[in-house]
Amino acid sequence: MNAKPSATPAPSELQSFWMPFTANRQFKANPRLLTRAQGMHYWTADGREILDAVAGLWCVNAGHGRREITEAVAAQAATMEFAPTFQMGHPSAFELANRLAAIAPPGLDRLFFTNSGSESVDTALKIALAYQRARGQASRTRLIGRERGYHGVGFGGISVGGIANNRKFFAASMLPGVDHLPHTLSIEHNAFSRGLPAWGAHLANDLERLIALHDASTIAAVIVEPVSGSAGVLLPPVGYLKRLREICDKHDILLIFDEVITGFGRIGRPFAAQAFEVTPDLITTAKGLTNGAVPMGAVFASRKIYDAFMQGPENTIELFHGYTYSGHPLACAAALATLDVYAREGLLTRAADLAPVLESAVHGMKGLPHVIDVRNLGLIGAVELEPRPNRPGARGYEVFVKCFERGVLVRQTGDIIALSPPLIVQPADLARIAEVLGGAIRETA
Ligand SMILES: Cc1ncc(COP(=O)(O)O)c(C=O)c1O
Repeated sequence: MNAKPSATPAPSELQSFWMPFTANRQFKANPRLLTRAQGMHYWTADGREILDAVAGLWCVNAGHGRREITEAVAAQAATMEFAPTFQMGHPSAFELANRLAAIAPPGLDRLFFTNSGSESVDTALKIALAYQRARGQASRTRLIGRERGYHGVGFGGISVGGIANNRKFFAASMLPGVDHLPHTLSIEHNAFSRGLPAWGAHLANDLERLIALHDASTIAAVIVEPVSGSAGVLLPPVGYLKRLREICDKHDILLIFDEVITGFGRIGRPFAAQAFEVTPDLITTAKGLTNGAVPMGAVFASRKIYDAFMQGPENTIELFHGYTYSGHPLACAAALATLDVYAREGLLTRAADLAPVLESAVHGMKGLPHVIDVRNLGLIGAVELEPRPNRPGARGYEVFVKCFERGVLVRQTGDIIALSPPLIVQPADLARIAEVLGGAIRETA
């Protein structure tokens, strides 16, 4: 099935779509339009081939145009396009939950379906709060997030998140009773670390300070990204996540890992929880769950949490929460086919094999003009550039545009360039990405 590329729209035809997280006027004056995708590549409206170094937006882990996935979605659409999951069900939602439970960290085998990472985060936060109440600890209402954390754009997500631009317009409407841990990026101590940085496990001890301040009896949960992606690839120092788990256990606080980016193989295991050998109580996912083909998210909850809700009369709805499209049949079909592809091609562990190749490719950029840090883990890489005086983000944007013009799609966050290629990436692709990115950095003043 080859969809015909649509003709390039005229500038006047670009005005109605209010684009998300985009400088609309800048984009519409000089648009970058993608019309086709296959394997590691996109093609632009004017027919140029673009090597995808970010898996779309950290989601197309099995590469583009996977026939098994699109055919499964088409077949499901032709059979039953929608079925409700409120007081009703359809078999593939149950099958998908079982399949996900089978690859989850031990005990995290209860699945709640959503449509996005943001919804997964809000769902997990609500489950955490409702769980505390269900087990008779209703005073535990406080949530702890982290500076520079990105947990999507719902009010819950921006409240526990730590990115000023996402929060400042809504400052008066944040969830009450949220506090933040310090972030873990220290260029001063850890610049150009290969893999996990050695310095900084003690930053987790700040949780003890917050507990001393607020008292554990008021805290429901801590939420962190095991590896934060959207804020510019911030890695956990060696031992940091284990320390967070220990402190949460000591004070009976839930630990939530937001694995919207790390889930489904990005760092060499199905989930970061397994890679770090730290088991949280809840995991939020989306993106790679369906290879980006149909919007879907999933929250993995521990048996302990699920069971706490399964009390009282059996005709009681245990959790007053859900989305019309929770477990949508097309999304379930896409996710089941995606899991088949991942299993058949070993993609959930392939990042571990390729990590050294990506590592040496990105660290080759040390010493290029304005490069102040290089970070990597699994199939995630980042190059941080020194901001121009008074113009933060301008240098990063120029590098991003140059890469695109030269046929490589990277992701820019401020002055950080992030790489997260599809997990099918070959060493030659990584070499090409590094060559184009390195050239763009060299030529950007
Ligand atoms: C860690 C994390 N959580 C949540 C989200 C939000 O996901 P979505 O954009 O699907 O709502 C993202 C998106 O990048 C993310 O990286």
